Amino acid sequence: MISLRNITKSYRNGFKRAFVLRRVSLDIEAGEFVNIMGPSGAGKSTLLHIMGLLDEPSDGEYQFRGTPTSSLSEKQRTELHRTQIGFVFQAYHLIDDLTVY
Ligand SMILES: Nc1ncnc2c1ncn2[C@@H]1O[C@H](COP(=O)(O)OP(=O)(O)OP(=O)(O)O)[C@@H](O)[C@H]1O
Ligand SMILES: [Mg+2]
Repeated sequence: MISLRNITKSYRNGFKRAFVLRRVSLDIEAGEFVNIMGPSGAGKSTLLHIMGLLDEPSDGEYQFRGTPTSSLSEKQRTELHRTQIGFVFQAYHLIDDLTVY
């Protein structure tokens, strides 16, 4: 269902490049329950944002249900995220005095 190949994410840091993810490869089948663990700053949220189609890798290939996500338009990515992915943000910004309704 989820197939990551050599996923890399880096940010420009002055004249250097800071690597947050370096060649991450991972397969997750439908129905599998997976924990991603690591110390603060290890890149867990960055990886989840890529898997949730909220962010794009700098390099590598991500296939979601057989679709190479790099070939999707912004609109198609949004549609896939909206209809197929449930995502709870680390900073979810719920407002205490408002109800869901
Ligand atoms: N937009 C960005 N620009 C530059 N560096 C970033 C950016 N976003 C994240 N980083 C850096 O990437 C690294 C990984 O961040 P990330 O939020 O993925 O870590 P995490 O494993 O989720 O940490 P935590 O357990 O604290 O939630 C950190 O060093 C962070 O400062
Ligand atoms: Mg995080």
